[in-house]
Amino acid sequence: MKHRRTVGLAVTITGALALSSSALAAGGSQLFSQAACGSCHTLAAAHAAGTSGPNLDMLQPSSGAVAGQVTYGGDGMPSYGGRLSSAQIDTLAAWVATVAGHSATTVTAPAGMTKAKVRAIQAKLASIGYLHHSVTGTWGPSTVAAIKSLQHAAGITVDGLWGPKTAAALASRLK
Ligand code: HEC
Repeated sequence: MKHRRTVGLAVTITGALALSSSALAAGGSQLFSQAACGSCHTLAAAHAAGTSGPNLDMLQPSSGAVAGQVTYGGDGMPSYGGRLSSAQIDTLAAWVATVAGHSATTVTAPAGMTKAKVRAIQAKLASIGYLHHSVTGTWGPSTVAAIKSLQHAAGITVDGLWGPKTAAALASRLK
């Protein structure tokens, strides 16, 4: 839900922090590495590949969900409420919510992919509940995230790329 994330981010920036988006990005990624979130979580934008917590690129949590989880922890995750200020937690949460599932290296449409083909793939992904976004014909972060969820469910390599195995995984779920 790209829309919801964007709204959350705007509220955080204007309401609490008034940071420029580049300051937000720098602060958020710095906090993510300082707090060692990546030792347990995968997040491509932070080059993090931890596996003991959920993969944040796939989960694509809202900034509110990140802030709550970071503040209170729970179920195997430490609480950071005593270590990070609420402004730091807001910065971190807004950044994670913005970048999760948006690895810059995976949003280029595969070679030879026409808009019509993209629309067809998106419609199929939406019909089985993986794409939570309208069919646009544009190969963007939501499509890549949907493909990653499909790959995860199918037990194949989760790289967000479109290839024969991914096509077969999609076809088998449409039957
Ligand atoms: C020691 C390992 C560990 C560290 C370090 C860690 N987490 Fe987690 N995290 C977890 C586990 C385990 C869960 C799953 C908890 C559950 O099932 O409720 C989780 C859950 C989450 C969730 C999911 C919340 C939801 O909506 O389900 C988010 C977001 C998250 N962590 C963000 C972070 C951030 C940001 C940091 C760094 C400040 C961080 N985590 C540090 C282990 C960790």
